[in-house]
Amino acid sequence: MIEQQGNLFLLSTAHASLLLRADARAPGLLYLGKKLAGGWENASLLAPEYDGSGNEKPCSLFSAWGGTDFREPSLLLRAEDGSASADFSLRSAEIAPRTPLEGLPSSYGEETCLRLTYEEKRLGVLLALEFTAYEDSDAFTSSCSLKNEGKSTVAIERFASLQLEFWGKDYSFTTFDGDWGCERQKHTRPINGGKCENASFTGASSPFRAPFTLLARAGEAVGVNLVYSGNHRTVAESDDMGRTRLITGINPFSFSWKLKGGETFFAPEAVFACGHSEREVGLYMRAFVQEHIIRGVWKKKPRPVLVNNWEGTYFSFTRERILNIAKAAKEAGAELFVLDDGWFGSRDDDTTSLGDWTDHEQKTGGIASLAEEVRSLGLDFGIWMEPEMVSERSELYKAHPEWAMKIPGRDPVRMRHQLVLDLTLPAVQDYLVESVSSVLTLTKAAYLKWDNNRHMTDVFGAAPAGEYYHRYILGLYSVMARLSAAFPDVLFEGCASGGARFDLGILCYMPQIWTSDNTDARERIAIQSGTAACYPQSTMGSHVSASPNHQTGNASALSARFAVAAGGVLGYECDLSALPDEELTAIGDQIAFYKKYREVMQFGAYYPLGDVQGEWAGYCTVSPDKSLAVAVVAVLKKRTGMMNFRASFKGLEEDALYRVSVREGAGTREVGKATGGMLVNGSVRLDGIFEEQDARSANSVFTRMFVFEKM
Ligand code: GLA
Repeated sequence: MIEQQGNLFLLSTAHASLLLRADARAPGLLYLGKKLAGGWENASLLAPEYDGSGNEKPCSLFSAWGGTDFREPSLLLRAEDGSASADFSLRSAEIAPRTPLEGLPSSYGEETCLRLTYEEKRLGVLLALEFTAYEDSDAFTSSCSLKNEGKSTVAIERFASLQLEFWGKDYSFTTFDGDWGCERQKHTRPINGGKCENASFTGASSPFRAPFTLLARAGEAVGVNLVYSGNHRTVAESDDMGRTRLITGINPFSFSWKLKGGETFFAPEAVFACGHSEREVGLYMRAFVQEHIIRGVWKKKPRPVLVNNWEGTYFSFTRERILNIAKAAKEAGAELFVLDDGWFGSRDDDTTSLGDWTDHEQKTGGIASLAEEVRSLGLDFGIWMEPEMVSERSELYKAHPEWAMKIPGRDPVRMRHQLVLDLTLPAVQDYLVESVSSVLTLTKAAYLKWDNNRHMTDVFGAAPAGEYYHRYILGLYSVMARLSAAFPDVLFEGCASGGARFDLGILCYMPQIWTSDNTDARERIAIQSGTAACYPQSTMGSHVSASPNHQTGNASALSARFAVAAGGVLGYECDLSALPDEELTAIGDQIAFYKKYREVMQFGAYYPLGDVQGEWAGYCTVSPDKSLAVAVVAVLKKRTGMMNFRASFKGLEEDALYRVSVREGAGTREVGKATGGMLVNGSVRLDGIFEEQDARSANSVFTRMFVFEKM
């Protein structure tokens, strides 16, 4: 809801308020925090009005380079004469319909915004800032645009999507960093009067620095994220006046956008939420993603349990081997079989054929009939593609070497023996739409895993250098928009060497993303917990794979691998046909259990438990009426005999009495009764309830899966 009193505007959600004032030279951020009860029109004590004079500048929602503010600016505009200075003044402030962000994905479900328009007279540029409040999920969004109303071109060298400023220097800055196989590891450091940065340079949101960040201090936290999949940057800076500024948007590194007269540039949408703690912010962010980012038929539809052949076969498979895995998958109760890399061109290893999306008939015996045969077993069929890439050993490269991203006269960097296609070119975009469409049509696939297995280097092509990275992402979004509109029933799963492009931009087109190539139960729990800091469990593809794990070499019990994988969208990724009967039976039980509780496990409110750096971690997913919850406790540091092991849970109704059961096979075994208050605030004895086989395996994570049913 948005209310107005003169030049004051109050945006409210169920638990939070954002109070802004349309001051003459920049919008003042007067308050962001716990919902204000009333009387918000008396705001003069929070900050004086800012008209450009005087020393005290209020906390503001943008900062244009060119005046006496020498902190990190949110906006830098360069005129044709080379000068970089801007001086904005208010043109209008209104409650208005939101402006669609041309070419960019964005949140949906709330049509009204506060629109503040500032004008820069010398440059002839209009800056529009739009703020929206999502009442149900306690999140706010901001989207900004720059319109050139003049005749001469203006270069946009920086244009953040959001600037927030708060009084106080004692904030910490939390980021989710990593690499291949260890994505989104949480790191927190004090800003300490200085400046912290979180940025990606790979052309994608990257495995190195995730776009979600948090600013927090005792009893307060603010989380921000971008609806964007390209290079991003967030900076948190504190100053001597005692303020902390947070800026997030497109990474200004190697970015310069020429805005000609009459043109408008849209920055990616930013999302922010505040609460008393990071955990509270996480709840709001996940609800926001679930309600206002994920769209289409899969939004609330139970996600199928899949079996993927990648780690089971890698490139060496035959039609017979695939069908054997599919038969075992069906026997175990899976619903979707996914044929991964290696089914096309002459791809028997990763040196060839990307771009040639035609059948590798020797292996598949005919991809269309293979898909049909999988379906005749009673499974849906899904397929892997890596549409943005090209192998130099391919028919596509022979026909269109100019479509690959490279710099004339320089041998391009090859990662995984492949080059990136230049998605800034409309012809390449069309090629992608045509090739993906024809594979989906030919195979009638119900699911597509869209991979992207290298970072961008040799960034050069037809688009101007300073615009290239962003134009690539716009090209990608246009392709994804066309495909998701043409195939509304297909379940798309994003992937980028695991989770190297896990962001809100991709999630606007693809309801789930493969979280990481690392499926080791112990390491996965940290990766999933970092991912779940902002993204709901229904977005996290999570598989049980073989033991010892192919990435880490660690062994872990099947039950532990399941307990961790069930914290996302469950799948299996191994050769099920080669497993001993008792393991296939155990997997059958796991799948039956998961299907029974999948609604709450995939779409319930998700509460991270424990601490991935500590003795134990886990999760608890709770139904909207709190009558049912499923939780997992994973012990990460083993104690001798596992004596006196205790844990507590989250999200339960404190006054209600719950029947507490543990998973046993496909069902449950009651172990006691307790009130929600005891389970949440108490310390629950877990001696003797860890799974037998876990306790015996030396290097394993001990897990137990709980079901709480309100009595
Ligand atoms: C990437 C993905 C894997 C698998 C392989 C296939 O590494 O993350 O899941 O699909 O590519 O080459």
